[in-house]
Amino acid sequence: MDFSFLSKYYMFFIDGAKMTLILSIFTVIFGVLLGMVIALMRMSRFWPLKAFAVSYIEFIRGTPMLVQLYIFYYGLPKLGIQFPEVPGIGSSFPDMMAAIIALSINSAAYVAETFRAGIQSIDKGQMEAARSLGMPHAMAMRFIILPQALRNILPALGNEFIVVIKETSIVSVIGIGELMYKADTVRGNTFQPFEPLILAAIIYFIMTFTLTKLLGVAERRMKSSD
Ligand code: ARG
Repeated sequence: MDFSFLSKYYMFFIDGAKMTLILSIFTVIFGVLLGMVIALMRMSRFWPLKAFAVSYIEFIRGTPMLVQLYIFYYGLPKLGIQFPEVPGIGSSFPDMMAAIIALSINSAAYVAETFRAGIQSIDKGQMEAARSLGMPHAMAMRFIILPQALRNILPALGNEFIVVIKETSIVSVIGIGELMYKADTVRGNTFQPFEPLILAAIIYFIMTFTLTKLLGVAERRMKSSD
């Protein structure tokens, strides 16, 4: 194996890794926020909300991420949704938007189911006790149920974050310069189809493994406060 291309191309991998991290961070933030809303809608007694949430989750989980990405990438401009040209960032900004929107909407469906499982895992006596103390439903949810649910779902949520990091590699197909895209560029430039992939894999692994370790720490912290 020949890694001598690194002296010339190492910046490609650094830039790509940065972009992968940026995509992952935005996706995790928007995915969790949207996922929480969808989970609450899914458990609502108001049927239109519930029906929307169920359809959303089923549709997103039942279609490939790749297809969803293309639908947002080509579909948003077709619907007349034009993104403004940003000076300095230029035309790659709209692509970024499409990528982050598609990734977040996809992740939210999985996050929603994780949250629902977590909330339903809390004994219903907890809600009854809170209500009998006079707390309104929303307040009991916010202060009694969600904090307990959050601890239960942390491992599953962490798993989702790791999936998100790996799943960002898909957006290389619409030309976002993240790690996989940059690795492909190096493969083309150097006529070495193999070695850049090994390097990309190692960098992805460093990211996911670091996250696994961090989540382990967070989990132990929450357990010790039990
Ligand atoms: N690669 C699978 C797909 O194309 C998984 C999608 C993302 N999964 C997730 N837990 N966010 O549908």
